[in-house]
Amino acid sequence: MIYLDNAASTWPKPPRVATAVAEAISEYGANPGRGTHRLAQRAAAAVADTRRQLATLLRVSNPDDIVFTHNATEGLNLAILGVLMPGDHAVTTTFEHNSVRRPLEALRRAGVIDLTYVAGDERNGVDPDDIRRVLRPNTKLIAVTHASNVLGTLLDIGGIAKVAKECGVLLLVDAAQTIGAMPVDPGTWQADMVAFPGHKGLYGPQGTGGLYLRPGLDVRPLHYGGTGGYSDRIDQPPVRPYRYESGTLNTPGIAGLGEGVKFVLEMGVDQIQKHNQALIDRLYDGLSDIPGIRITGPPRGTPRADLISFSVEGVDAAEMAVLLNDHYDIAVRAGLHCAPLAHEVAGTLETGLIRVSVGWFNTVDDIDACVGAVGELAAALRL
Ligand code: ALA
Repeated sequence: MIYLDNAASTWPKPPRVATAVAEAISEYGANPGRGTHRLAQRAAAAVADTRRQLATLLRVSNPDDIVFTHNATEGLNLAILGVLMPGDHAVTTTFEHNSVRRPLEALRRAGVIDLTYVAGDERNGVDPDDIRRVLRPNTKLIAVTHASNVLGTLLDIGGIAKVAKECGVLLLVDAAQTIGAMPVDPGTWQADMVAFPGHKGLYGPQGTGGLYLRPGLDVRPLHYGGTGGYSDRIDQPPVRPYRYESGTLNTPGIAGLGEGVKFVLEMGVDQIQKHNQALIDRLYDGLSDIPGIRITGPPRGTPRADLISFSVEGVDAAEMAVLLNDHYDIAVRAGLHCAPLAHEVAGTLETGLIRVSVGWFNTVDDIDACVGAVGELAAALRL
């Protein structure tokens, strides 16, 4: 199969990821942080090593400021539910995935917070000054994606962070579509929290992810329970990462994630970005030549996440994806991509879009095969 659904989960993974998962299960399947025996220590060392790798990638000086979650969604929930209090106001954008929108809306609908959406456009994202204009004295949080998972549009995180700092508002960044594929740097951004998945640009297993928390930031835990240490305390320990990592961790997944991050560090984010961008440019050019096609998001050559979503006039997006799978063995994702707000920006809420997303293991041949198949289907279906 030609796999072009890397924005949902990257695949394949570097072989060392599966090796590390298998080793964690077959060679040292003990509980990290629970017990002083050799196998528990090896499990704890694997978890600590992955945390260190992530700290290197994110240029974070204290690895304990990164806590493990099961995916980006859990990290976003931890951040949003952990800082907002009754009477607070939060700001988000019209580019957000449901993983940001739904926890915010759940709080709004329960009467806990007020919420404002700031609109932007496909090409430029959101103007930081538009965010500044909607801030109120009780605004506690700005929650924004780094890149739209539908349109590929990059948001100006540096500019938004500047507004947040100047106005004393917390900034949460959803790096689901960019981590590992372009620089994600909480320190330079001065972001308070950055949530990320392990199974996308970090090439780790599904069921892994994390949240960076700025030093000293007080966030309420999402889960309470055993942490391996501080067992005599009734309350959740204040110490990171234990405060946020109750219950047995996904050691095999985290061990695999560590190898994924090492792979990204060895390849270099710059090189990955260059490779993926070249494929995206080729895809853009190929798709542009197909009659009736409309490509969404930023224009060719403009930095974007490693994906292109498009529609073909008169052709159903879901049908195109099914035919690509059934007749060409090509995997793409069609529909609303769990982000109806971004489809409102593009005006495609009713029709959906076909999304092609690339990763390190894709080749020029994959792109050419996809363009050829889309061209053939478009010609046949538009008749
Ligand atoms: N958020 C993931 C996607 O865009 C799953 O497909």
